Amino acid sequence: MAGKQMKLLLLVSVVISSLAVNVLTAPLPRAIKELSVRPPFLGLISAHSYKQATPFSDDGRRFHIGTIGSNSVIIVGCGTGLVNAAATTQLLLDFFPIRAVIHFGTAGGADSSLSVGDVVIPMQFSQTGIWDWLKSEAAPQPDNGVADLEFRRYHIPIGGYNLLGRVAYMKEYFFSQTGEPDVPVRKFWFEASEDLLQIASTLEGIELDQCLNGVCLPKQPKLVLGVNGTTANFFVENAAYRDFLHSTFHVASIDMESAAVIMTSLSSGQQVIAIRGLANSAGAEEGEDSSESYDAIVAANVEKTVVALVNNIPSPRLGRICGKNRKCSA
Ligand SMILES: *[C@@H]1O[C@H](CO)[C@@H](O)[C@H](O)[C@H]1NC(C)=O
Repeated sequence: MAGKQMKLLLLVSVVISSLAVNVLTAPLPRAIKELSVRPPFLGLISAHSYKQATPFSDDGRRFHIGTIGSNSVIIVGCGTGLVNAAATTQLLLDFFPIRAVIHFGTAGGADSSLSVGDVVIPMQFSQTGIWDWLKSEAAPQPDNGVADLEFRRYHIPIGGYNLLGRVAYMKEYFFSQTGEPDVPVRKFWFEASEDLLQIASTLEGIELDQCLNGVCLPKQPKLVLGVNGTTANFFVENAAYRDFLHSTFHVASIDMESAAVIMTSLSSGQQVIAIRGLANSAGAEEGEDSSESYDAIVAANVEKTVVALVNNIPSPRLGRICGKNRKCSA
């Protein structure tokens, strides 16, 4: 894996051994109890797995305990897809004292004005995998539909009828601690937390690497804030669908976990943000998909951004996480 990634892992593992020696052999419930009296952690959820020995594991996942700068962190890999992402987020929030969730990974780029290798911190994510699959193009738009995909629009030559009909994109069913029990709120966009976005905005202009181990991105990568992202349970490698997502929902990144991490965190009243590096163009690239060749350099830049963000978050001694110049309520 990437050198930078190794360095982060190394950093974390070094701290793991000095910090958690006394709980290394403790069963999970005792370890959790010991950690519960510590100041709260930043919960870092990677879309990839961290295959490293660590004191705590549950349901096949390892929770790596350590520090980055003056902040205590717990890093866990969630694996692919919305179910894994939501389950991991909920485990993290239920077992450990968490101040905020920082999710990261790679994504497909949906906006042609961005380049492969750019790192995005979207302000909001949608889940574009909840559909009402309708009989025909003429079927009425369902109550909670937000947009349609008509299959016949993609015929070449143009025209004709398509038995697959039409797909209507539906809003999510959002349950939260502050909402009425058992009554979901129908929502399409899930916003990253304003305080974290504001801290992230101080990273603008961060120097990202163009080359790693002899592999160079076609362009000097940059950090891009203020875009939208979307998530669904399928890997998009199709230019027509990528363009549909971009023109319909104005999204810049396509992935398989972010919306689930954000939604699960918000559901528990947690602050959350997601950082994604564009490893490919979701099928719009000419020739072969570039994702594998750029994976390492993109992951390294994402981790550089994560570490910079963590370093800009005040340590728990200073109280609640607040963006600069923002008043924090208790
Ligand atoms: C993000 O999505 C919202 C809602 O669809 C839209 O109004 C906004 O213009 C989008 N932002 C960008 C940067 O495209």
